[in-house]
Amino acid sequence: MATLNSRTGKVNGPLWGHGAEDWADIQEGTLAPVFDRVLEKASVGQGTKYLDVGCGSGMAISKAEAKGAFAAGLDASQALLDIAGSRSPDAELHLGDLEDLPFDDKRFDVVTSFNSLQYAGNPLAALKEAKRVMCTQGTIAIVTWSPPEMMEVSSLIGAIKHLLPPAPPDAPGPFALSEAKSLRAFASAAGLLTMEIFDISAPWIYPDKDTGLRGLGSSGVAARAAANSSIEAVEDAHASALAPFRQIDGSYRIEASLRCLLARLP
Ligand SMILES: C[S@@+](CC[C@H](N)C(=O)[O-])C[C@H]1O[C@@H](n2cnc3c(N)ncnc32)[C@H](O)[C@@H]1O
Repeated sequence: MATLNSRTGKVNGPLWGHGAEDWADIQEGTLAPVFDRVLEKASVGQGTKYLDVGCGSGMAISKAEAKGAFAAGLDASQALLDIAGSRSPDAELHLGDLEDLPFDDKRFDVVTSFNSLQYAGNPLAALKEAKRVMCTQGTIAIVTWSPPEMMEVSSLIGAIKHLLPPAPPDAPGPFALSEAKSLRAFASAAGLLTMEIFDISAPWIYPDKDTGLRGLGSSGVAARAAANSSIEAVEDAHASALAPFRQIDGSYRIEASLRCLLARLP
């Protein structure tokens, strides 16, 4: 179990919940191809006991349920969990912290984390918790950004960096786990054996600028930047970063890629 002082759920929950509807309606859907591919690669199907940690508004959970899985999820945001619950009334959903999962040891066949472990105060402690609740023959998926050179969206992710409160010098950035070597070392430090690492294309597509700004503004990072500056400053920064990606019909398409490591117990 993690120490109490490294937990970030109480701070991160309200930040990620501030734009829950926009996250669920706009931004979460950009990950749909990632959820599909990871669930397929991890063989989620009829009767699989499945857990998604940092599940947000629950698209992965509803996709797993559609395949016949018994699904559970945990997130720090009640607002996002309320949306997940309205989509998946049979899922077991918990408000909590990545570093302290309210589940018995070895309960799940498949545990996934889509861009969530890096928000724990101690990501390795969170990964060890995910491993604890995975059964002996289970599979764990750690999903993070692909390296920045593979992603046009890195300019959007970086656009509000100057609006955030100063980070401690040793704070991991958004791409801290993106290199295959770092990702593998992270899994290995938790006592996991890497089976495979692969990238999945998942472009951010918005029909117009307003939808793009709402999607980009719905993240917890954007909420943190707005609290440290203003909503207008965040919108201006996002609008400037979006501009180069405007298509002839007024829509926007920005290439993005997610990297997945699949692991099991040695
Ligand atoms: C980038 S979002 C990803 C959400 C979802 N996995 C998806 O891909 O749409 C990060 C998620 O991690 C959750 N989160 C951040 N810190 C957390 C913590 N300490 N404990 C539990 N959840 C946390 C946030 O509430 C948010 O839903």
